Amino acid sequence: MAWYREWFGADYLELYAHRDEAEAERHVDFAETHLGGVRPAAVLDLACGAGRHAAALARRGYRVFGVDLSVTLLAHPPRVRAAAGDMCRLPIRDAVFDWVLNFFTSFGYFESERENFRVLEEIRRVLRPGGRFLIDFLNRDHVLANLRPRETQELHGRRVEIERWYDERRRRINKRMRLHAPGRPVRTYLESVRAYTREEVIIGLRWAGLEADAVFGSFAGEPHGPESERLIIIGHKSD
Ligand SMILES: C[S@@+](CC[C@H](N)C(=O)[O-])C[C@H]1O[C@@H](n2cnc3c(N)ncnc32)[C@H](O)[C@@H]1O
Repeated sequence: MAWYREWFGADYLELYAHRDEAEAERHVDFAETHLGGVRPAAVLDLACGAGRHAAALARRGYRVFGVDLSVTLLAHPPRVRAAAGDMCRLPIRDAVFDWVLNFFTSFGYFESERENFRVLEEIRRVLRPGGRFLIDFLNRDHVLANLRPRETQELHGRRVEIERWYDERRRRINKRMRLHAPGRPVRTYLESVRAYTREEVIIGLRWAGLEADAVFGSFAGEPHGPESERLIIIGHKSD
């Protein structure tokens, strides 16, 4: 089974509990500042997970809808308006959103370039003319320069053994996690993301009919460079 069908469940929620609503509020501040323009009538939180960004947007009065593959995450609070679906075949009609937001490395999951770039085509398809998007992706150079091959963490009474490696041939950054919880069998998960460079994402966007307008290296609005923590691309649907 594909790694992303197994990993994004109850254990993910527990291990990534620090990726919380306070952080989502800061991300939404950033989106409001940099997507700017006319207030959107409808916003898609693509790969919304448990909906922390969608909830932050809804609190600010936006009409927001989420899509995610994980029914476990969708059922978890804050419970936002959302549907279960695959990001490369969105269960959504054409041209209904003014903004599509894709937060926290929710791209590059598929094995083939075709499927990953298909997600970009889907973003274009569901955007209205003139619609805008934000993709918040890892910064490959930063991840590779700081890759810790082995680490053990103690989290909520569990020991988590982590292995990280870069698969040069498939150009993927991989992370294997082994969870040891008292009284439970050891559970193992994989996370595997195609490590697209900034240029590759921009080419993919163009191929899909999307144009990048600005690239940032953090949610503090810093310019993007090799040492940036993130690769945040903002752009619009091409005519
Ligand atoms: C790293 S999490 C980020 C979740 C959310 N954006 C956040 O910041 O909390 C990645 C999300 O992508 C979802 N996902 C994985 N594969 C997917 C697919 N093929 N289609 C839609 N969502 C998918 C997962 O279920 C998970 O919620």
